[in-house]
Amino acid sequence: MKILAIETSCDETAISVIEASGTIDAAQFSVRGNALYSQAQKHAAYGGVYPSLAKREHATNLVPLLTTALRDAGIYFPHHTTLPEDTATHLHTLLQREEGLYDSLVRTLSSIERPPLDAIAVTYGPGLEPALWVGINFARALGYVWDIPLIPVHHLEGHIVASTVVADQNHPTLYTMTPVSFPTLSLVISGGHTEFIYAPSWGTYTVVGGTRDDSVGEAFDKVARLLDIPYPGGAGLSTLAHKYRITHATKPVTPNLVKKTLPRPMMHTNDLDLSFSGLKTAVLYWVRDIGTLTDPMRQYIAAEFEDAVTDVLLTKISKAVHIHKPQTFLLGGGVSANTYLRTRLFQHFSHEGIEVPVRVPAEGLSTDNAIMIGMAGYLIHLRDVPFLNPQDELRAQGNARIDEQPSFR
Ligand code: KG4
Ligand code: ZN
Repeated sequence: MKILAIETSCDETAISVIEASGTIDAAQFSVRGNALYSQAQKHAAYGGVYPSLAKREHATNLVPLLTTALRDAGIYFPHHTTLPEDTATHLHTLLQREEGLYDSLVRTLSSIERPPLDAIAVTYGPGLEPALWVGINFARALGYVWDIPLIPVHHLEGHIVASTVVADQNHPTLYTMTPVSFPTLSLVISGGHTEFIYAPSWGTYTVVGGTRDDSVGEAFDKVARLLDIPYPGGAGLSTLAHKYRITHATKPVTPNLVKKTLPRPMMHTNDLDLSFSGLKTAVLYWVRDIGTLTDPMRQYIAAEFEDAVTDVLLTKISKAVHIHKPQTFLLGGGVSANTYLRTRLFQHFSHEGIEVPVRVPAEGLSTDNAIMIGMAGYLIHLRDVPFLNPQDELRAQGNARIDEQPSFR
């Protein structure tokens, strides 16, 4: 089946067209169109995502991205169409809070044929409320005009599904799900979340631990900012840390570096809770004490921070695996793109003799994207969750809190 997928939960506006086939443990996904616009640079001045700016940017970019995704998928057929007056009125009501979206959408809908799509998968939560609503109302509008059913997707289920697929070496846009043995334990680490999620089967999720304050991604971004790396600084911080490690492997530590070991908050508590705000504050004081940072110092601090986070995560992952005895461990979310963490995770399992298979997302699927939303949408469809009529209230399914979601407890 052909699925149009829409993701607007944070500062990435993304639309994909995927062709999905196969069974729930061996599904295949061919990405036919994938248009993604990252607003990161626009938010950089604020040092984080500014919700009303995110909403405005989504409203501006959704239609151009839709056009690109349909074109790439070869299902953009120019054709003059006149929208019936009552349809236009309905769209107007639906999109009244999404500045400019009504006009650009009506212009596009009046100039193309209904594309051959079987469903529209859209992230309904969790995320930034104003940002989510743009995507939801956009999906409802398309579903209404084209009479295509909607599949509401939980953003974290998207991240979880993304770690179960592998890309074909010869056809990088073709992904195959590798069979997953249940129960699974996932650790989703992103800008908005840091959660251990236990699942006895697809679609049944229980949050069994997580951060009490900042998410891992937030900690990376805040520390990156202290080191003058623009938002979102996770990947940039990791690059600095890598520079330190390769230099340090051959040369002694720069003599005037203020050596320090950062705290590993909550690393040895008996629960699966985590905390990162104290770690960020420790870096803040450290940087303040040093005064002017040289490049080698920034690299050293980045490496020390990345080590502290990795040590905490690995210790808690061991604990989580010991308690919940999963058959598969899945790492997902934006921070799962971190190469150092991935490498140490595999080393850690092997060193500790943990025989649980580990899965991490294929390249490009760690950070927010619409492909993972389409994939999760297909699995939801295979679970026989009834499609929603585009008229129905998508968010009646729950609001942005994970513990209130129908399938997340
Ligand atoms: O999953 P995601 O795209 O958005 C949310 O759902 O929140 O995650 C974004 C987060 C940002 O905090 C970003 O700095 C972080 O993922 N990130 C990384 C890396 N790549 C992205 N953090 C550490 N190392 C990376 N390589
Ligand atoms: Zn995300």
